[in-house]
Formats: sequence, structure tokens, C-alpha cells
Amino acid sequence: MSVQGRVKRITTPQIRAMKGATPVVCLTAYTSLTAVLLDEHVDLLLVGDSLGMVLYGMESTVGVTLEMMIAHGQAVMRGSKRACVIVDLPFASYQESKEQAFRNAARVMKEVGCAGVKLEGGVEMAETIRFLAERGIPVFGHIGLLPQSVNTAGGFRSLGREEKEFADIVEDAHAVAGAGAFATVIEGTVEPLARRITAEIPIPTIGIGASPACDGQILVLEDLVGLFSDFKPKFVKRYAELGQSIEASAKAYAAEVRARTFPTLDHCFGSKPAAKPEGGPPDTA
Ligand code: KIV
Repeated sequence: MSVQGRVKRITTPQIRAMKGATPVVCLTAYTSLTAVLLDEHVDLLLVGDSLGMVLYGMESTVGVTLEMMIAHGQAVMRGSKRACVIVDLPFASYQESKEQAFRNAARVMKEVGCAGVKLEGGVEMAETIRFLAERGIPVFGHIGLLPQSVNTAGGFRSLGREEKEFADIVEDAHAVAGAGAFATVIEGTVEPLARRITAEIPIPTIGIGASPACDGQILVLEDLVGLFSDFKPKFVKRYAELGQSIEASAKAYAAEVRARTFPTLDHCFGSKPAAKPEGGPPDTA
């Protein structure tokens, strides 16, 4: 395909420019298969480290490695051509120092070819975000509930009910935006907090369990289509029940194999075709 004929990917400056103009539609994707299906319908595909729990059955995202993120990021890039693809930096790949963050983010950018990286944290990560952004790495922020900090937070709960917590997260939002993030996820916060942040910061806020007040929304695809059923957070809307369909298909297949009713001659190569009515189409199998 010529360079002119190539579909242009949505860029991080374009995502940033959507603030106040049009809702930003985001979903997670971990595989080429799902990237192909989602690409046309979303502005941004996030290769989220939630894949540790959703695909690998881990208890949290803490065990996810940079190599896992790179492999899944490459798969999503192969399956998409239009969406802005962002890859999560996993736990312990950026918190140590801004230099460590740059080294690992640069590796992700080079090996995946994605548009940027996402990292979790507010005020405490602002210096790192600035360091990356000033050196050519677009950063997607993530404030509010931080899954990689589950062990210090002591579990997941919605945030912003207490005055101090509310004020701290507003401060995080300003720190992330001020440091040069092109957009930020707000996860698991009460509506007035997401509303206040969205009104105050100049970059798009992408909510997950943070209310319609945000500039855009993101969900984990497997939650949306009913494939991940370990738990269903309040903020998830199920648009399909694919898990049930897969289970029903496997059950029907197993029964047919055991009953020897699958495969039939229609599914065989070089078998004698069943008698065809006279004048029927020729057998091309
Ligand atoms: O890892 C992930 O999927 C995420 C989204 C839930 C925002 O960070």
C-alpha cells in the first residue's frame, strides 16, 4: 500500500483536542483479534495491565511484566490501523526513577510502535510525566483508584467521599495535566469529584467508574461483553453475554463429539458425498 493510501492513526494531540468538543471513546484491547473488531468504533485502544487479571487469571495487576505488555501491545498494533494505541507501563517498571520510566517507556514505544504509554499516579508521578513528555513520550495519566497500589490501598473502593481525599485527587489531576499528560483516566471516584476535575483541567478526563461528567469513557472489553465474570463492578454495563454463549457452544460441541454427531460428512475432506438430488449443484469439496 502506498504511504498516501495508508489509514492515518488518531494521534495523542488529536485526543487532547477532543476536550470540550466530542466525547472520547476508549476501550481496552489485549489481542489482535479484539483490536480488529474494535478499531473502527473507538478513538483510543488501551493495552491495559488489567490483562493480568482478565487474560492470565492473576489476583491483581502487580505481577504483570513489561514483556507481557510489549507482546500484547504488538498484537493490538497488528490488529488495528486507525485507533490511537496506548500501552500501560506495568508495576515496578517506572516508579523507581524518572530515568527508569524513560528507559522502559522508550522500549515500549520502539518495540510496539504505539502512540504513548499510561502510568498510574498523581502528584508523586508528576516529575516523571514531565520527564517523559519533554523527551517525546506522550503520557496518559491515571488518577483516583490506582490498581497497581492495591497492596498499600488495602483493596478497591470508590474515592472522594472524604474532604481530604477529594482535595488530594483534585491536586493529582492538576499535577498530571500540568506535567504534560495528553489526557488522564479517572478511576472509581464520586461524581462531584470527576465533574470538578473535568471542569478545571485542560486535558480530557476519561472515566471508568467516574460518572458521565468526564470528557470520555473507558471500559475493559471483557466486562462490556460478559467474558470476565469473576466480579462485575457497579460501573460496568454489559452489552452482551459472550461468556454464556461460549460455554453453551462448548457444551453442545462436547455432546456432539461424544454422540459422534460431529463431524458429519459435510465437515470432511475427500469423503463420499451424501447423495444429491438430481440436477443439484456439483460437489466441489
Ligand atoms: O488496565 C486497565 O485496563 C486500565 C483501565 C481500566 C483504565 O487501566
